[in-house]
Amino acid sequence: MTKLEGEPSTAEQQPGADAADVMVRWAGAPVPLPKPTGHFVVRFWKSAVGKKWVMAVSGVILLFYVLAHMVGTLKVFLGSEEINRYAEWLRTLGEPAFPRTVVLWGMRGVLILAFFFHILAAYQLTRINHRARPVKYQSPRDYAAANFASRTMRWTGIIIALFLVFHLLDQTWGPANSHFVRGDPYDNLFYSFERVPVAIAYIVANLALGFHIWHGSWAMFNSLGLNNPRYNLWKRYFASGFAVLITVGYVSMPLLIVTGAVSR
Ligand code: HEM
Repeated sequence: MTKLEGEPSTAEQQPGADAADVMVRWAGAPVPLPKPTGHFVVRFWKSAVGKKWVMAVSGVILLFYVLAHMVGTLKVFLGSEEINRYAEWLRTLGEPAFPRTVVLWGMRGVLILAFFFHILAAYQLTRINHRARPVKYQSPRDYAAANFASRTMRWTGIIIALFLVFHLLDQTWGPANSHFVRGDPYDNLFYSFERVPVAIAYIVANLALGFHIWHGSWAMFNSLGLNNPRYNLWKRYFASGFAVLITVGYVSMPLLIVTGAVSR
């Protein structure tokens, strides 16, 4: 049999090769797939469907977080007492059943895992897609549409990850904020957003976050199997509404402070 472009090599058909990968790359007659081995969880993670589930579920956790974080930080407009009390409340969550900051650290643990698996699954799915499509799209329209969405997600994702590192250095740990005072988010935020380059960085990153959520929260439903066209309109409303809410909420803080519309 002649070897077609994109056909798996003999090595890739060995037991242990990614079953989904072999399936999508085979352009010839059907061949028996290697029997998947290992624990259910490992097999699930290794499949493309499993990675999409992991992306969607970790994405839902991150969506909850960005919404809750936005509601909390918007208290900056209510004054220093309100936002500083809120930050202190976060640290005392679960008391007296749990010692101070234990519940907060539990939530941070879930958040770190969600970020980690979201990024890992995105990276591995991109690699699977590249290997699965060595033959380019036949229609330039399909190519443009698929490429725009995936390129936008990749770049907005990278911007958000870089922003997060800067944001933690600026608001949580302090080295990027020369007036940083632990336990005083109100002054820390004002000092940050009164500097024009920092305010611009926050605005750009949160616009990227809005785009990311707009496409991601639509794709999330499809990854979870909710792809009946009957629900398309509702999914579109949800994705657009959530993205606009998050973008307006987050961008309002640096924008109103840097322009002087809100001051201390
Ligand atoms: C204008 C936008 C934002 C503002 C004003 C803001 C504000 C803050 C503040 C004041 C803190 C420190 C809280 C404290 O330690 O008491 C913080 C921490 C944090 N922010 Fe933001 N944030 C913004 C956007 C974001 C975005 C878009 C993300 C995620 C993509 C994010 C993720 C985090 C994380 C993970 C922490 C650390 C939380 C912790 O220590 O438990 N923030 N933010």
